[in-house]
Amino acid sequence: MWSTLSSVVLLFYGYVTADPARFDGHKVLQILPNSLQELEQVLALHDVYDLDMWRHPRKGNHSMDVYVEPEKLEPVLGALKDIGAHVKIWIDDLQKLVDEEQSSMKRSFHLPYTSQGRNQGFNHYVYHRYSAINQYLQDVVTATASMPTVNASLTTIGFSAEGRDIKVIKISRGDGVSRPSVFIDGGIHAREWIAPATVLYFIGQMVYGDEFDLSPQLLDKFDWFFAPLLNPDGYEYSHATYRLWRKNRVEQGRNCYGTDLNRNFGYQWNPAVGGSTNVCSDVYSGSQAFSEKESQAVETFIMDNRQNMMAYLTYHSYGQMWLYPWGYTSSLPADWQELDSAAKVGTAALAQLYGTNYVVGSSTNVLYSAAGGSDDWAKGGAGVKYSYTIELRDTGAHGFVLPTNQIEPNCRESWRGLAEFALSLNTNK
Ligand code: ARG
Ligand code: ZN
Repeated sequence: MWSTLSSVVLLFYGYVTADPARFDGHKVLQILPNSLQELEQVLALHDVYDLDMWRHPRKGNHSMDVYVEPEKLEPVLGALKDIGAHVKIWIDDLQKLVDEEQSSMKRSFHLPYTSQGRNQGFNHYVYHRYSAINQYLQDVVTATASMPTVNASLTTIGFSAEGRDIKVIKISRGDGVSRPSVFIDGGIHAREWIAPATVLYFIGQMVYGDEFDLSPQLLDKFDWFFAPLLNPDGYEYSHATYRLWRKNRVEQGRNCYGTDLNRNFGYQWNPAVGGSTNVCSDVYSGSQAFSEKESQAVETFIMDNRQNMMAYLTYHSYGQMWLYPWGYTSSLPADWQELDSAAKVGTAALAQLYGTNYVVGSSTNVLYSAAGGSDDWAKGGAGVKYSYTIELRDTGAHGFVLPTNQIEPNCRESWRGLAEFALSLNTNK
């Protein structure tokens, strides 16, 4: 009895106090091969050492970011030298970035944010935890109760593998008129913290008003659905335990966890195309299409609401790209030119604020092929015309650990891009 009790207590204690993994001396290298042949050699090296490719080479720009643990550093740098590829150190000590992230969040946690002085208690200077995010969503709903021209309602569309809520907030005029809708999500990948932060910012701008005064037009034109945190288990794990976690946290056995939710959507699902059948892989596609509770929740919700759905945007990081289908093949949807020009309206508007450049194109053609993405499913499976994956800041200087002082400018420019994009859509067809 005592031994059981004390091991339970110990387990619990360990769970509560376990220190997060450290990244002292872990580096991110930017590698630029000088030829296609060098590119092949670098990719082979990446496989041999089982390195984590943070940013993949694009068509036309073959530079890539590769994360290297200290024990692999010497042989990897040696091999790169032999190949002759150009190497730059983007991140010299990942732990330093993670420490700065943590301390800046402690410093600014108490600053009440808002350009308008409203919206006390929540701010867009830090990366928030699951419970704070849920509290914010609830506060937004409460606030709109006394607003005559904006309505917000909160639905739990499903539960994560560990039982957390997956929430969608609907923001609309609340005048009984049903408008075409836009669905926006963030946080499919746990470590991409800027994505949920961006979606939360959108919610705030939509409800409390924005500096460009675009929100009234956006609400007149569309009903808005926001799912800021689709993978809450992975997100919490990336905060508490391992900053670089990507997948969800479903137990796989073999001491491995997680399915890559962005390989699990059920349109042309195929682990052989940019995914994996290995449960321990970071891009494990799941045992079958929609095997995961998190992707199922999205499927059900979008299928139930798809009649009026015009656009689906899923926010990720990083790389500064505005991508449209397909991800499973290099061929393009019949209406790709419309998707392309709408995306270019968005990226042009985005660039106006700070000159931040985004690349526009189909995911396979600018990036790499990967089947089972939510964007492919939204278009091919649910019939949502304007479907995109947006890769937010930056281009590699900080990668997934985007400094907190970039949250606001990133969100501000992204809001501008989203708004101009949405206003440019023709809702009459
Ligand atoms: N970085 C994203 C991923 O690897 C890009 C997804 C693009 N879309 C796609 N269907 N492959 O999941
Ligand atoms: Zn991602």
